[in-house]
Amino acid sequence: MDASEFARMMEELRHALKPYRDDFVTHDRIPEVGLDREEIINLMEAFKAREEARWKDGFASGAVYHGDDEHIAFQNRAYAINSQSNPLHLDLWPSTTKFEAEVVAMTANMLGADKTGDEIVGTVTSGGTESILLAMKTYRDWARDKKGITEPEMIAPTTAHAAFDKAAQYFNIRMIRVPVDADFKADVAAAGDAITKNTIVIVGSAPQFPHGIIDPIEELSELAREAGVGFHTDACLGGFLLPWAEKLGYDVPPFDFRLPGVTSMSADTHKYGYAAKGTSVVLYRGRELRHYQYYVTTDWPGGLYLTPTFAGSRPGGLSAACWAAMVAMGEQGYMEATKRILETASVIKRGIEEIPELQVLGDPLWVIAFASETLDVYAINDYMNEKGWALNALQKPPSLHICVTLRHTRSGVAERFVADLKSAVDYVKAHPDVRGSMTPVYGMAANVALKSVVGDFLKGFLDLVYEV
Ligand SMILES: Cc1ncc(COP(=O)(O)O)c(C=O)c1O
Repeated sequence: MDASEFARMMEELRHALKPYRDDFVTHDRIPEVGLDREEIINLMEAFKAREEARWKDGFASGAVYHGDDEHIAFQNRAYAINSQSNPLHLDLWPSTTKFEAEVVAMTANMLGADKTGDEIVGTVTSGGTESILLAMKTYRDWARDKKGITEPEMIAPTTAHAAFDKAAQYFNIRMIRVPVDADFKADVAAAGDAITKNTIVIVGSAPQFPHGIIDPIEELSELAREAGVGFHTDACLGGFLLPWAEKLGYDVPPFDFRLPGVTSMSADTHKYGYAAKGTSVVLYRGRELRHYQYYVTTDWPGGLYLTPTFAGSRPGGLSAACWAAMVAMGEQGYMEATKRILETASVIKRGIEEIPELQVLGDPLWVIAFASETLDVYAINDYMNEKGWALNALQKPPSLHICVTLRHTRSGVAERFVADLKSAVDYVKAHPDVRGSMTPVYGMAANVALKSVVGDFLKGFLDLVYEV
């Protein structure tokens, strides 16, 4: 990519990212006199109506996991009652303490705590990434303290979430990525071979984000147990769906605390827990591990200071809304939602399998990735975009996925997806010269020599986000 192509792509992205620039006032300074509150709310309504309602009709992969009007209104009321709450001030909002303790306990019991002899504990966090970062920091500090490991290493399949790379970078942990097999499951033998005296934790996903495949958690966690290292199941995506799928009779391999080698888990309440965005749960086998997550200082002139997670002040309203979502759904609500999602996903999966030019990757339950041996899938993605769809573009191999949520379970959505995908394939077949807009970027990302160029491009993209 030369400088002019770089600039051209940035310009295109600038237009896509800032659709309101031409039509609405831009504030790069605090207005001298505050605006009318009603006007502000109307402006937000206008944004929502103009560009931001696509997810509502089931056009987005993942993103909004429930999204029914009544549920949103209920979440908003729960938040509104608690919008001033900050769990940093435990004395002022004991109700938030109750909500958080119960969110953790309910999540732990859903994930097998009540079937082990061990105490499963945890904390509420701001999302899957924070849960993962905290768990990895915990293992780093635990291994330094207990085993004297000063050059820590983590072992994770190539498909484990990028948040693990982020943790490796933030906390100076060496990341050892191990391959997945032809079905996109972690290669257990490769994970075993990667263990060294510096290994602090092995990671597996239930399921992984790219292809929705559940790693062989039982085998991986046994490896970790034998080696005396931690094992983290990343159930950010599946933690609130797989337990119910299992109860519904789906074939769900063991992945939670019922496996003795699993020492920590992440499970996102703000995905299939159906809570408003901004919460997740990280869990540990035993209080000792959780203590390595906490931060406490006794020297500060500001007094004794203690926080369970990375943040200081935290939004208690989100924890309240999360608690409200969980107790309002109940087991029955979660079972019913899971049933609808899995049935819709199976219609979508069958529909994709019937398109000869496409191949479903592995044998997923509800996050369905597909590739093409003959067509540019990124061109298919562009066509789908034109039709309103927002799918996830993947690489290695080039593929797309749709993560099925309750938004897709409404009448006709799955059928519309399959019909649009068929026309996308027909279009790309009839126009073999059309390349997907992201094809060169993914091509370059696969090229070792060009990786840093793509990295610079992505940083430039984030700079764009913060342009007013
Ligand atoms: C398997 C998995 N882990 C972690 C994450 C990160 O979660 P978040 O985006 O809430 O930080 C995701 C997000 O999709 C995920 O699918």
